[in-house]
Amino acid sequence: MKTDASGRPRIAILISGTGSNMEAILSACKNGSLDAEPAIVISDNPDAAGLRKARARGVKTLASPYRARVPREENEAPILKALRDEGVEWVVLAGFMKILTPGFVRAFPGRIVNIHPALLPSFPGAHAIADVLEAGSDITGVTVHIVDELVDHGTVISQTEVAIFPGDTEETLAPRIHDAEHKLYPRTLQQLFHDDF
Ligand code: GRF
Repeated sequence: MKTDASGRPRIAILISGTGSNMEAILSACKNGSLDAEPAIVISDNPDAAGLRKARARGVKTLASPYRARVPREENEAPILKALRDEGVEWVVLAGFMKILTPGFVRAFPGRIVNIHPALLPSFPGAHAIADVLEAGSDITGVTVHIVDELVDHGTVISQTEVAIFPGDTEETLAPRIHDAEHKLYPRTLQQLFHDDF
């Protein structure tokens, strides 16, 4: 593992789509509110808008498409190689839509972080915003947690609540969830990387 010349931990951000959380993290690295060096942005989806955004910001990228009918370990191998080649200390999942194998998680024990658009342990899974609305909840939120070998399960390190208003739909709630994520994730990473809990 490496730090840059100023001692900032080198991080990788893993995405599959829009990359708005990635952008919030890259902005925080740039403005100094997050002391971390974005070494590489990696996507399993070569068409992810987030990859283009990362390149436009001058951040190194890797598209590593997952192949169907190939063991997950084989799909992960190029990603693990890149993380090692780049001397990455922390792996930051930001809308990465593939479940990591136990072997991947063990390669970075306690050093993979994820953000989830609900108040875990409530509403795990890939459709949390829709599921919260379907359940008729009046409060939801955002969770940052350490990734373990189970899905949406590891130690919760920060949460923030988001109110649900009468008549909310996915279209009206999702932007408020994302706003909360974009504030919480960089702030939590700064505390996590610099032992400020
Ligand atoms: C976020 O809502 C995050 O909580 C979830 O995936 C979404 C990614 O959005 N894990 P974006 O790609 O960061 O815009």
